[in-house]
Amino acid sequence: MARLADRVWRLRESPTRRIDRVREELARRGADLIMLSTGQPGVPPPRWLRERLAELLAADDLKLYSYTPSAGLSELREAIAEDVRRLGGPSLEPEQVVVTAGGQSAMWSVAAALLEPGDEVVLVDPTFFAYPPIVEYHGARVVWVRARPEEGYQPDPEEVKEAIRRGRTKMVVLVTPDNPTGRVLREDVARSIAEYAADAGAWVVVDEAYKTLIYEGRHVWVYRYAPDSVVAVNTFSKDPGLAGWRLGYVYGPRDAVRAVNRVVEHTVYCPPSIAQYAALVYLREWKLRMEFIEWVRSVYARRRDAMIRAVEEHLPDARYVRPQGAMFLVLDLEGYVRGLGVDSEALAERLLAEERVATVPGTYFGTVTRYALRLSFVSEPEHRIAEGVRRIARLVQRMRGAK
Ligand SMILES: Cc1ncc(COP(=O)(O)O)c(C=O)c1O
Repeated sequence: MARLADRVWRLRESPTRRIDRVREELARRGADLIMLSTGQPGVPPPRWLRERLAELLAADDLKLYSYTPSAGLSELREAIAEDVRRLGGPSLEPEQVVVTAGGQSAMWSVAAALLEPGDEVVLVDPTFFAYPPIVEYHGARVVWVRARPEEGYQPDPEEVKEAIRRGRTKMVVLVTPDNPTGRVLREDVARSIAEYAADAGAWVVVDEAYKTLIYEGRHVWVYRYAPDSVVAVNTFSKDPGLAGWRLGYVYGPRDAVRAVNRVVEHTVYCPPSIAQYAALVYLREWKLRMEFIEWVRSVYARRRDAMIRAVEEHLPDARYVRPQGAMFLVLDLEGYVRGLGVDSEALAERLLAEERVATVPGTYFGTVTRYALRLSFVSEPEHRIAEGVRRIARLVQRMRGAK
């Protein structure tokens, strides 16, 4: 057989994909799985949006099925710029927005547009597991900066500054609200990092996938601090929950957006048209959109609180930082499993096999979360979340008993 490209294996399989395969197999065998693994929205997009789409689909309208501009429908780029402004963000021209085929494609396109072999990229440990493979695929090197639970997972700006090397660092990635920790970046931290990075000639990529899913505090618009150097990654997967329809966007300085657009043109040609029309309807109905997202936030906040109550009751020695946003709680079980010779990967595997609870091991996000599990609090109702935590406690007790 002819040779494959070596670098393709830098694209390690996503851990949630792997868990999904095991989960599908168990589900086929009729197992009752409690899903605490995915960031899949637990509620469908609003009914009014689905009804409007049904009307659009009922008409004989070719535009729904046609190619769109690579950068996305111009009306959608305008609607996105307007939406960002109404959410309290910066004023953008539509030319500063490019629509992508989901957040993943936004991340990929940004990396392809900004990175060259040999570049350094500063990532916060822990961070969303999708970033390191993309960075490494493009020949760049990850430089880690730790964010500690004692500081609510806020990165220390001084440590980030030390990691930034003029002429070597091309990109600093900040995720806020964060996956996996749910931490919302503090304004002073964001500002200090963004201004320093920009001054050192590095791009700041801010991942805002969960910007409207904040339960306490408010979103920090990092772009404002360094508008020539910040590129923002966004998705419609979480709000309004169009995860499988693959739609996201990037905004930033015009030149960066033009470069991202070029990558989109050569990878997907244009983002899915039907999803673009859905997003257009959604964003244009500002009042209904706000009502919907407020309701979603209240559902998710209740589920998060149910998870915290169950942790307090069943795993009182576990450490966690109350997530202010996003969809996940990082449950640090070091106090229970240290000394047992297991890390979170072994723990997650046993949880799935023995207790039928799907989680994501903290090892996939960095070293800080080595003994932690990432638990999603959005995709199961409250009573099943509590049951999932009970089962985690049961396994941990069993493991300690067998020591
Ligand atoms: C922080 C973050 N960025 C980007 C993405 C990717 O978004 P999408 O699902 O639209 O590809 C996700 C998805 O989980 C995420 O959590």
